[in-house]
Amino acid sequence: MNIPALLREKLLIALETAGVEIPDPARIQVSAAADLQFGDYQSNAAMMLAKPAKKNPRELAQQVVDAMDSDLCEMSIAGPGFINFKITPAAWTQNVIAQGNAPLLGIHQVPDSQTIVIDFSAPNVAKPMHIGHIRSTIIGECLGRIADRLGHQVIKDNHIGDWGTQFGMVTWAWKKGVDEGALETDPLQELLRLYRNASDLSKEDDKVREECRQELVALQQGDAENKAIWDRCVELSKKGLNQIYDRLGVTFDHWMGESAYNDQLAPLVSRLEQEGLARESEGALCLFSSEENPPKKDPFKIHRDGEWQDQPMIVRKNDGAFNYATTDIATVEHRVQEWQADQIWYVVDFRQGSHFEQLFDVAHRMGYNQVDLVHVSFGTILGKDGKPLKTRAGDLPQLADVLDDAVKAARLVVGEKSHLDTEEEKDQLAELIGVNSVKFTELAHHRMSDYVFDLDKMVALEGDTAPYLFYSYVRARSIFRKLEQEEIDRLNAEQIQLTEPAEIHIARMLARYGDSVRVVLDDYRPNLLCSYLLELARSFHSFFEACPVLKSEGVQRETRLILCDLTSRVIQDGLNLLGIDVPERM
Ligand code: ARG
Repeated sequence: MNIPALLREKLLIALETAGVEIPDPARIQVSAAADLQFGDYQSNAAMMLAKPAKKNPRELAQQVVDAMDSDLCEMSIAGPGFINFKITPAAWTQNVIAQGNAPLLGIHQVPDSQTIVIDFSAPNVAKPMHIGHIRSTIIGECLGRIADRLGHQVIKDNHIGDWGTQFGMVTWAWKKGVDEGALETDPLQELLRLYRNASDLSKEDDKVREECRQELVALQQGDAENKAIWDRCVELSKKGLNQIYDRLGVTFDHWMGESAYNDQLAPLVSRLEQEGLARESEGALCLFSSEENPPKKDPFKIHRDGEWQDQPMIVRKNDGAFNYATTDIATVEHRVQEWQADQIWYVVDFRQGSHFEQLFDVAHRMGYNQVDLVHVSFGTILGKDGKPLKTRAGDLPQLADVLDDAVKAARLVVGEKSHLDTEEEKDQLAELIGVNSVKFTELAHHRMSDYVFDLDKMVALEGDTAPYLFYSYVRARSIFRKLEQEEIDRLNAEQIQLTEPAEIHIARMLARYGDSVRVVLDDYRPNLLCSYLLELARSFHSFFEACPVLKSEGVQRETRLILCDLTSRVIQDGLNLLGIDVPERM
């Protein structure tokens, strides 16, 4: 058990001994102290319980302190009745030993494991994955790793957009002339070229537009040639996407794209109609408001021309085609019925907010009340001009290009600062730093805030960056390369003893690891774990400067080596949960 949990247990016993009635034990908390001057942890339990017990809070706090078993800490009372706990060096020592031996390094798994489907990345086939998809891909992967570590059953599903109007265009351009060679080497680029070609021409020429539409109709009616082209497009896209996912270290359990639900859509829509949930309007089949919420909170209402108007969800268009929304309803059914999902997290751009509000409302009306549906939304990546990031040509930048640019920027830093011997090692390090700096920057920002994409800043060794964390890790590990193997084998955590303030502080920071991982899922915020790791790294450098390791001897040396080891393991593990691999040397 970690220190705050132990303190809490002792506090509950002390409250009982002091004869205080505790109406709601869950509300008795011990939290990290805001100001370390007074202690490491604090509790407001006495203030909370004094009033119903008709006691003076400071007096009650004193009674609790007198009754509390104090082998872990010194206690004091502050302000109106806060109880402060200052953990003793001996207790910190014990905690470092326990954390070092714990297989999860102080992370506690949840008592109620849930099946969680994470819907993330989901780019559209034949359109390249652009920088906007990076947020979804990186946040989704990280949340998946953390949920898994906390003991949940995680199902990662890439709901790619593999069905839609773009296929009419791609098929049309494909038939006019596809470059087979380019398809092999860079499938995403070639598919994009075909798509752009048709899309540009059909804007100018109605005849082309009509031909593209015909190609789409033919595909939807099962035309063999068009179906074969579509099959290849999807397969090649997956190949191209997988190259990017490999580079990013992202994996999926399923690729249930939009097309996987095609056969379910017609029966689903008839059911919605029969059950009276959907009705016809201007030739289309729609779901309207349940009228149960005030219009402001109703995703089926929109304020237009001075009044609240209906904004239905269309599940079958007047030409008989089904929609993105229709597919998403089928997707919920599949995930609940086939995968027994307790929760579904949609990691998707904030612009799709009202789509998901409508979807979740419809799912509830259909009786899917047992599943928790969450839109994990995020903001926009900005250029240095403060506007959404674009290329010089004015397009959305493509993810692969962004990664290449980041690697180039990292290569410059590596060239200047790295101690590695060969150019090849430096290239590898630059790839690792470049790609992971993009990932870390993404995760280190609050997901709802927009942020400015600044490559030079993110690959820098100083600042709140991935390279700074890498450097901390490498610094902690490099000590061990300077030791004789014999000393490493002899290292024995049981013999350590923390005494110096900087040693105690690093132990205090290490003890926060478990909670820093757990809180990420409270509001799907990986930035909390990033901030923790940066703070840990900063304390590590202070420790390292204040407490020479190799120049010390005996128990002190042993203690400091164990602290270096544990710090490096926590940094590595924490970064791994963010989806980031560390270099061993740099
Ligand atoms: N393909 C969509 C896009 O690029 C994202 C899909 C998100 N997932 C979902 N179930 N709707 O905008």
